[in-house]
Amino acid sequence: MNIVDISKRRYTAKHYDKTKKIASADLKQLLEVLRNSPSSVNSQPWHFVVVDNEKSANKILPAISDFNHARIVDSSYTIIFCVKTSLDEQHLQNLLEQEDKDGRYANAKLKQEQDQGRHFFVNLNSATSEKLLEWESKQLYLALGNVLFAAAAIGIDSTAIEGFDNQKMDQILDLQKQGFKSVVVASFGYHAENDGNAHRPKSRLPQEQLFTFL
Ligand SMILES: Cc1cc2nc3c(=O)[nH]c(=O)nc-3n(C[C@H](O)[C@H](O)[C@H](O)COP(=O)(O)O)c2cc1C
Repeated sequence: MNIVDISKRRYTAKHYDKTKKIASADLKQLLEVLRNSPSSVNSQPWHFVVVDNEKSANKILPAISDFNHARIVDSSYTIIFCVKTSLDEQHLQNLLEQEDKDGRYANAKLKQEQDQGRHFFVNLNSATSEKLLEWESKQLYLALGNVLFAAAAIGIDSTAIEGFDNQKMDQILDLQKQGFKSVVVASFGYHAENDGNAHRPKSRLPQEQLFTFL
């Protein structure tokens, strides 16, 4: 399948078929796509909470806007996309050592340069907690876009969800204590027969309104 076909195939599922479950091997693939997402200076400022059972789905419902409840309850999996409340030394060191372990550094100088560069950009974007949240959220939304596209590529339907109360979500999952903050949610599954959106034509502004060639 070509990439334009995948981009057309991806749409926002509004109703899921509760009886059709995503295979765990497919979930694994989606999680790998999240893990492989790009982020500025490879900061990986994220954490993903995977809701994979009915009890947990019900637990997070009070944080979800009413109009999105069915998407959480009837889909196979819901992922809560979180940022880290701090990109502290421990995290930066963890990244550096992982990169070293993964064979990214031919010598100590390269490793040191990467560490310095990352500190520079993290400091640049950490002046206030709001600024850090904004910077981290940009990275997180890239991961969201990647996984929505990847899901469509393997025939899995999805719903990006901003219709939720992030403070309530943080409370329910005790995220602050773990150093995380919820930013966006996405559900994955297979659409129900009555999902009107599955058959609606996609609507986008025409190319000439979107692109400028210089
Ligand atoms: C970040 C983001 C948040 C969204 N939040 C919701 C939501 O809470 N509930 C919902 O039903 N759709 C939500 N949507 C779906 C959009 O309405 C949808 O992507 C848009 O109308 C384009 O339609 P399409 O995805 O079917 O191409 C969200 C989409 C994005 C990208």
